Amino acid sequence: MSSVLTIRGGVPLTGRVSVRGAKNLVPKAMVAALLGNEPSVLRNVPEIKDVEVVTSLLQLHGVTVVKDPLSGDLTLDPKAAKTAPSTAIDAHAGDSRIPILLCGPLIHAIGEAFIPDLGGCKIGDRPIDYHLNVLRQFGAVVEKRPGGIHISAPKGLHGAKINLPYPSVGATEQVLLSATRAEGITELSGAATEPEIIDLIAVLQKMGAIISVQTDRTIRIEGVRDLGGYNHRALSDRNESASWASAALVTRGDIFVEGASQRDMMTFLNTYRKVGGGMDIGEDGIRFYHRGGKLNPLVLETDVHPGFMTDWQQPLVVALTQADGVSIVHETVYENRFGFTDALIRMGASIQVHRECLGSVPCRFGQRNFLHSAVISGPTQLKGADIDVPDLRGGFSHLIAALAASGTSRVTGIDIINRGYERFTEKLSGLGADFDITSTK
Ligand code: EPU
Repeated sequence: MSSVLTIRGGVPLTGRVSVRGAKNLVPKAMVAALLGNEPSVLRNVPEIKDVEVVTSLLQLHGVTVVKDPLSGDLTLDPKAAKTAPSTAIDAHAGDSRIPILLCGPLIHAIGEAFIPDLGGCKIGDRPIDYHLNVLRQFGAVVEKRPGGIHISAPKGLHGAKINLPYPSVGATEQVLLSATRAEGITELSGAATEPEIIDLIAVLQKMGAIISVQTDRTIRIEGVRDLGGYNHRALSDRNESASWASAALVTRGDIFVEGASQRDMMTFLNTYRKVGGGMDIGEDGIRFYHRGGKLNPLVLETDVHPGFMTDWQQPLVVALTQADGVSIVHETVYENRFGFTDALIRMGASIQVHRECLGSVPCRFGQRNFLHSAVISGPTQLKGADIDVPDLRGGFSHLIAALAASGTSRVTGIDIINRGYERFTEKLSGLGADFDITSTK
């Protein structure tokens, strides 16, 4: 069964939404529980697809995962961890990118890992070469097998001096999850330092790990033999918060995002203010609103933290179609994250995508023929269209474009949006959006 949204646009989204734990932390904290010899408790867990996938993978490996029916808190007990049948693991092939992070914890827990072919958003090639190189540097043996990869470590995992060619979020997490119980010291340079990574480090420290983060992207981990459990409240999802902030601008609305955290969103908030968006920053969340009048065009480059996050780019581009003038956006994290603009152009937006780097940050894609810079001219009146959702953030961007457009849009493939936006149709209803949802076979 898949669902179709029929959206009648032109209604400003107004009201309140509540944002829970970050999609880019929660599944990883769940994986970390495998490293302990006691149960862990994870709080502020959203109901999203990646949490389901990781729950199922952990259960296949003998981890007991119990969800509190009232709070949604998860208790994860790894005491009976065991090897899972590869056919059962295979059933998750293509579901998510998180399984690659099970490698280190599974090797520590049961001596080997089989990881199914990965899924995740189609926003570039998304290779796993950094992950595999990191594992090899810890002493793991990586073997390609039908349906996935098998990883073992006949002599255990050993601390290493590792340098990442690019501050990859996933590869940094791979190092953290492998090094905490490896023998000896690991020094990682060129690390990513996103708030979700710092929160994962907080989780590991609660378990007994010894990790220090230096200001020059170096992370030092002193391996320990055993780890205990943790009790942790996940940091809130700054990407979902930023998406609702852009939705308020695009639809000329006014949304209070409960759970939005100023500290983790400073770069986004600076940009939002420059575009002309209104905000009131409170203790328990942030109110984002259109102030009336014109929005300002921008020159913007995405980058690793503390830069402007790539996941904020797509919804903000929709807002820039409503700004008064020419905006330039240079995507430097993923080579192929402007595919979603095709649908916006069909809806009436004026956007050209270019192969050249239109920005000053040295970028890996400039000489390689990728359409990774966009020039957006505004303001343009968006009109309804038929849209098939391409990826998580692109899909949310299409939704908010349809909600702002004149006329009716029919949006298919919306299940992808459930991967990262908890109960988004309920939230849209609460904000006054005018839409129907139907199921097709
Ligand atoms: N890369 C490689 N080889 C690797 C790993 C990464 O070349 O082995 C490249 C990627 O192709 C990309 C760049 O390095 O060009 C950065 O990728 P990174 O590893 O940082 O991304 P990720 O860990 O796969 C996470 C989030 C993404 C988010 C990025 C960047 C999760 C589950 N996903 O992905 O979130 O965009 O970090 O911050 O944490 C989203 O939420 O919509 C999303 C895609």
